Amino acid sequence: MIHEFDALVIGAGGAGLFAALEAGKRSRTAVFSKVHAVRSHTGAAQGGISAALGNVEEDKPEWHAFDTVKGGDYLVDQAAALMLAEEAVHAVYDLENRGLPFNRTSEGRIDQRRFGGHTRNFGEAAVRRSCYAADRTGHMILQTLYQQCIKHDVTFYDEFQVIDVILDGKTCGGIVAVELATGDIHTFTARATLFATGGFGRMFKITSNAYANTGDGPAVLARRGVPLEDMEFFQFHPTGIQGMGILISEAVRGEGGILRNRTDERFMVHYAPTLLDLAPRDMVSRAVISEIKLGNGIRGDKRIDDYVYLDATGIGKETLNNKLPDISSFCRTYLGIDPADSKIPVQPTAHYAMGGIPTDVHGRVRCDGEGNFYDGLYAAGECACVSVHGANRLGTNSLLDLVVFGKRAGIHLAEFVRQADRPDVKSDAAVAAKNKIAVLCRGNGRKRPRGSDLTEKMQRIMMEDIGVYRNEPAMERAVAALNELREDYKNIRVGDTSKSFNTDLLEVLELENLLDLSLITAVSAKNRKESRGAHSREDYPNRDDANWLKHTLAHLEDNTVRLSYMDVDTSRWAPKARKY
Ligand code: FUM
Repeated sequence: MIHEFDALVIGAGGAGLFAALEAGKRSRTAVFSKVHAVRSHTGAAQGGISAALGNVEEDKPEWHAFDTVKGGDYLVDQAAALMLAEEAVHAVYDLENRGLPFNRTSEGRIDQRRFGGHTRNFGEAAVRRSCYAADRTGHMILQTLYQQCIKHDVTFYDEFQVIDVILDGKTCGGIVAVELATGDIHTFTARATLFATGGFGRMFKITSNAYANTGDGPAVLARRGVPLEDMEFFQFHPTGIQGMGILISEAVRGEGGILRNRTDERFMVHYAPTLLDLAPRDMVSRAVISEIKLGNGIRGDKRIDDYVYLDATGIGKETLNNKLPDISSFCRTYLGIDPADSKIPVQPTAHYAMGGIPTDVHGRVRCDGEGNFYDGLYAAGECACVSVHGANRLGTNSLLDLVVFGKRAGIHLAEFVRQADRPDVKSDAAVAAKNKIAVLCRGNGRKRPRGSDLTEKMQRIMMEDIGVYRNEPAMERAVAALNELREDYKNIRVGDTSKSFNTDLLEVLELENLLDLSLITAVSAKNRKESRGAHSREDYPNRDDANWLKHTLAHLEDNTVRLSYMDVDTSRWAPKARKY
């Protein structure tokens, strides 16, 4: 089946919905989601959206941009970070005007709270910059934008999984997708296509990410020759529920929660004496792992699965109930404790991909590091790399990135659609996808590994060898093991061959995406011989601006990953050592 639109948006989280809203005003736009739109992972974002409104204390977009650049360990493109911080203020009021129910100050203004790495006056002290709707900010953004899309007659294709992108040279003509309800393969053609498929934390064993976060957009594009940028930088959030990875928002620390080791010591005094528990996430995650390695974790056995405590008992029942209701409920449901009375067992959890599909500030996808772009191909949100997060994203800059760059991409895409010719898409665009599914269902070779076994192995390798701390032998081991898994994948066979809601097939398609992105991440990490932001090497513990102040571009070429580089925009602030 072939369908024609002006614009396609793949992914219905915050970035996809905002882009669709803008594109939908001006062109026939369709949104695709592998889940129902309001189940997108944006809905799991808890703590807030940053903007220097200055509602509760003095703040400025320039300070916000500086914190973003410093937090990203100077791998951030600075003009883009300034744009993000400046447009943040309008973006938050725009969401408010569209109906988002933010928490309020007693004067009725949007309330703001502290988050890691956000400071006043270039690092003096923590500032209240995060605007929030209790600990359901992402959920509220998603509902607000979805309602707006319905109001503006955007067409939704729920439960459609993208399998391939149609690229003819440097021109994008649409996508091929499988309809999960029927198993039918559809071709969608359009003048422009935007990927907003979110993150890929399911590469790791312990993650805050939903099951759907399997990097479908970046993987599909990488297999068609699109480079991926800065994939070595994957953020671990310091406070996932121990053993499960479920997010316990940084807002808990923003409201006064304290990290403690087995002797009840507030150990962050040793690692970030000014910002303490509200230092950027890369530093806090390293501090947690360092405490565990020192034997100061709760069990004291120095093992990777040891943990520390997040002590929210000083926050008070009223604030917990009013400002952190979901966190309180998670603690009751998953741990059987009330955070008002008991400390929460936490460990770092794989949370956010700083890297992804390389774009400019209009969402246009780059084909190289020389300033060239694909025609009609866009990306926004976590699957994209603008790059405003550099080597480490600050908390609450993610929701901001979605709305600022989702909107910008939607506007640019709509203008492109207005003047572009309809691409000439061959009628057999779906043949490769059909063949791929046929091979997966019938098996290929005598060894028939199960998808779930390969998934488990991949997640363990990534967690142990490409985690918070890294070193050459571990990464070497990881690359070899991932290559083996990719070989095994070629012989995989899907157990269930039925057509309707074949989740077995879906998981195997997702596994291919995760394996490709894991390999790209591991190779990019092994190559970068320095420590910067979330990429922390025991064998190269220092940042090395002379050799490594550059973006990585990774090109997947069958069984190898070729690397090239792109300049970082340091036009505003010269790189300095990070102290907090
Ligand atoms: O901790 C949190 O609430 C997460 C926020 C974020 O990743 O921006």
